Amino acid sequence: MKPSLLILGGTTEAYALADVLAARDDLRLISSLAGRTTNPRLPAGETRIGGFGGPEGLATYLREQDIRAVIDVTHPFASRMGWNAVEGCRSADVPLLRLERPAWMPEPGDRWESVESWGRAVEVLRQGEARRVLLAVGRQELDHFAGLDAIWFLIRLVTRPDPLPAFPSAEWRLSRGPFDLADERALLDTQAIDTIVCKNSGGEATAAKLIAARERGIRVIMLQRPARPRIAMAATVAEALGWLDGILG
Ligand SMILES: NC(=O)c1ccc[n+]([C@@H]2O[C@H](COP(=O)([O-])OP(=O)(O)OC[C@H]3O[C@@H](n4cnc5c(N)ncnc54)[C@H](OP(=O)(O)O)[C@@H]3O)[C@@H](O)[C@H]2O)c1
Repeated sequence: MKPSLLILGGTTEAYALADVLAARDDLRLISSLAGRTTNPRLPAGETRIGGFGGPEGLATYLREQDIRAVIDVTHPFASRMGWNAVEGCRSADVPLLRLERPAWMPEPGDRWESVESWGRAVEVLRQGEARRVLLAVGRQELDHFAGLDAIWFLIRLVTRPDPLPAFPSAEWRLSRGPFDLADERALLDTQAIDTIVCKNSGGEATAAKLIAARERGIRVIMLQRPARPRIAMAATVAEALGWLDGILG
């Protein structure tokens, strides 16, 4: 029987890894999505959708499906799944790899304020320098900022939240990356943005706003990544494939 592999997905890298592995006829590939978006893009290979029911649920799934290896390619900010993966894989005795894109690092000319929580980001905004803010955070994180009535927000999201948080002064822009540098420059200029609030997702798709901000001396309030367990790590799909070959022998 072919060995089964589980990808914990939801990221660009997870789709890229699935594209490569689904083409192999020496293994069975299952990708798992959390099910946060309706009509998600489906990865190549088999897909399952929805939570497992914590680490115990994941361990049960791994045993039932006779999974030989798990690769956690969830988003850098999806840390609960990361901790659950470690516990679930340990209890089912299944090897686990974390594939994670590197974090963005500040470069000369950047005006980044690194924060550890959205609460701290709000405190920084309350200090008064910001008037016109590009808010590039997730749907679930918007409520932290809705009470800042001295600030006008340009809120960029993939899908419109329902209900819409009550921002006193805001414009909504629905769009999905990748965003290109010329468009990001134009957005910051035409909207006279003085501050960007975002999280350190890393990767190419949403990095152009940081370059445009650097060129203009615009401040970036950057949420640091949450802590993740220390496990075997890969930074690229190629490294993950090397690890997998070692596991499958
Ligand atoms: N957080 C972000 O900024 C972000 C950005 C882009 C994409 N995503 C993707 O969106 C998904 C959810 O992110 P999140 O931040 O809400 O995660 P999270 O807080 O780490 O996880 C919350 C719960 O969602 C379920 N879950 C998460 N990822 C899953 C997966 N790939 N397959 C099955 N169940 C999963 C698990 O439920 P059970 O405990 O029931 O197993 C987990 O305990 C992730 O797959 C992530 O890759 C997240």
